[in-house]
Amino acid sequence: MPASSRFQITPDLEICRILNGMWQVSGGHGPIDPRSAVEEMFSYHDAGFTTWDLADHYGPAEDFVGAFCREFTTRYGAERLPEIQAFTKWVPHPGRMTRRIVEDAIALSLSRMGVDRLDLLQFHWWDYVDRSYLDALRHLADLQQEGKIRHLALTNFDTERLRIIAGHGIRIVSNQVQYSLVDRRPEIRMAGFCRDHAISLLTYGTLLGGSLSEKYLGRSEPARSELVTASLRKYKNMIDAWGGWSLFQELLAVLRQIADKYRVSIANIGIRHILERPAVAGVIVGARLGVSQHIADNTRVFGFALDGNDLTLMEAVLSRSRDLMQVIGDCGDEYR
Ligand SMILES: NC(=O)c1ccc[n+]([C@@H]2O[C@H](COP(=O)([O-])OP(=O)(O)OC[C@H]3O[C@@H](n4cnc5c(N)ncnc54)[C@H](OP(=O)(O)O)[C@@H]3O)[C@@H](O)[C@H]2O)c1
Repeated sequence: MPASSRFQITPDLEICRILNGMWQVSGGHGPIDPRSAVEEMFSYHDAGFTTWDLADHYGPAEDFVGAFCREFTTRYGAERLPEIQAFTKWVPHPGRMTRRIVEDAIALSLSRMGVDRLDLLQFHWWDYVDRSYLDALRHLADLQQEGKIRHLALTNFDTERLRIIAGHGIRIVSNQVQYSLVDRRPEIRMAGFCRDHAISLLTYGTLLGGSLSEKYLGRSEPARSELVTASLRKYKNMIDAWGGWSLFQELLAVLRQIADKYRVSIANIGIRHILERPAVAGVIVGARLGVSQHIADNTRVFGFALDGNDLTLMEAVLSRSRDLMQVIGDCGDEYR
């Protein structure tokens, strides 16, 4: 893939700007066979998609990374392991955050992934009334000093809390948030703050679970029972809150028109648009390992750039949607 597919997220860490999302192996997205899933990870890596997004609670995702790294070492040698970037998350139950709780959680991820140090640890917090998230982050920063974590990051934090954390002198590399043509909340407050504080955005939901594709163009509104993955169901709710299925069809039609101009797919346009937004380092695209893959199609994202006319065409539809900042709130508020 071209050099433009890479991004230097920190001076010592380079990523692929399309990350492989592993929520899709956690159940609720169709059965996954561990052996073919790990084998499929080589197809992504060999095509240049070297960066993985996972979490402690994504079923076997951390174990798959461990198995992949072991098999990778056998095939290519340990000296090539730095080619792989694996970004996990820690999503603790709310409550008091002692050093022991934090240390044990990180030790578990290290052991499952079979590494001495986590490349990037993304921390999630459910309830801002409980300010223990600051204690957790202080302990994580200590573990970082001790070499267990290379970089600290967040997921689903809102702009206000990001400001508080930055004010406590905790260096955050990235915040992972929902960001798509349908959910543009990060543009209102988050992206500006991130740009001013050298924090990157990693985005999810950019393809709306696969709804942002030719497969759904011209289709009547799917019944709940037709939405076969947890991801499709999650983002159908978002489409409904945003403006509904018929406005979504108008968006798909405009995206198809733009895609024709570049001879690419609707998904390519959806990813490219978010990659071109301020503060965005990478888009995470869910991968149903061993079930379906779009590797060849997604490489095309790095072969074109959108122009002003394309944005005008999209805006003509997007301007008629509801303001999700008003309906839901800032980034991650849907989880709180
Ligand atoms: N921090 C959080 O709270 C959070 C929440 C959700 C997700 N995430 C992260 O983000 C990742 C992405 O998950 P998501 O739920 O947001 O899903 P998504 O990336 O919006 O959608 C993934 C689905 O899009 C389809 N797809 C991919 N490339 C395509 C292409 N070129 N053309 C057509 N369809 C294509 C595939 O569907 P098929 O498999 O059906 O072909 C794939 O399963 C997760 O794995 C996870 O790592 C994080």
